[in-house]
Amino acid sequence: MKKLYNIAVVGATGAVGAEMLNVLKDRNFPIANLRLLASARSKGKELKFKDKVLKVEELREDSFEGIDIALFSAGASRSKEYAPHAVKSGALVIDNSSAFRMDPDVPLVVPEVNPEDVSLNKGIVANPNCSTIQMVVVLAPIHRAVGIRRVVVSTYQAVSGTGLKAIQELEKQVEDLSNGQPVRCEVYPHQIAYNVIPHVDVFLDNGYTREEIKMVNETRKILHDDNLAVSATCVRVPVFRAHSEAVNLELLKELSVEDARKLLSEFPGIKVVDEPLKNDYPLALDASGKYDVLVGRIRKDSSVRHGLDMWIVADQLLKGAALNAVQIAEIAVDQGL
Ligand code: A2P
Repeated sequence: MKKLYNIAVVGATGAVGAEMLNVLKDRNFPIANLRLLASARSKGKELKFKDKVLKVEELREDSFEGIDIALFSAGASRSKEYAPHAVKSGALVIDNSSAFRMDPDVPLVVPEVNPEDVSLNKGIVANPNCSTIQMVVVLAPIHRAVGIRRVVVSTYQAVSGTGLKAIQELEKQVEDLSNGQPVRCEVYPHQIAYNVIPHVDVFLDNGYTREEIKMVNETRKILHDDNLAVSATCVRVPVFRAHSEAVNLELLKELSVEDARKLLSEFPGIKVVDEPLKNDYPLALDASGKYDVLVGRIRKDSSVRHGLDMWIVADQLLKGAALNAVQIAEIAVDQGL
């Protein structure tokens, strides 16, 4: 008989947590028992999973007894505090926060790119930042085929990446503006409705934001290439779901647009959507709710020796978070955990 696993979802009431439950169900993950964990505020709240109604429990140090796999998505400070307790209880932690991503003892995994790294874990596997995941899925086959010297990326990030409160803030601001009411900004430093804010995560001394530096460091770690030059500008846009990215690549060798399209269309997890004359290119609305990373607008950048430009869109709650985490769990199960 197929082995069944005891799973805990930490942050089950959040935007990513809800998608983790959807993905576990959708992919028919072999679950014996499911434990839903969140803050004391959510204790006793009922959530549906398949045909069962489960009660949310308060996250505590002893929440992980008997748990085989713990999917964490309740912020970095919760991960730092509670993941060690989960590991001590014998669970494999798959952590969606930034807490352990750059720890040399923690593999940082995108299953289509570096699945072999899962087996190097010492109890924790990190899920990369959402903007990084969708970009490296596309970079990986190109990096393998011809090498990449430099990546310049600008992101257009959806508010759901910030969490449920940000979704509500955009909805409320649109409503208030249409009713002639004053707008309140609580989650973002500026009005997000009908605006574009070049500020994701906190600013660092070098002028970049932490989100931008995550894209640099995590891309190098996942692709195992410390020489890769990466520069990112991360921007929040009034889109509910799915991040878009304009990506410029300087390659080590020539790769034609046709060969790039072929290479990408053959890679798992990617859908090439690239018929611009038919107005067919990746859109946030089309990527929402889907598992694939969409790539299009692939064109030659003649301003450098071997340049390519492209537009990459993915559902950051799914491929950028919940799906990627469950895929890591599937690999761990295949490897005998
Ligand atoms: P809760 O709903 O009880 O606050 P999002 O990023 O969408 O806002 O979700 C964050 C998730 O992290 C939620 O499930 C939230 O639970 C959970 N969370 C936040 N703070 C804590 C905490 N101190 N302990 C446990 N879970 C927490």
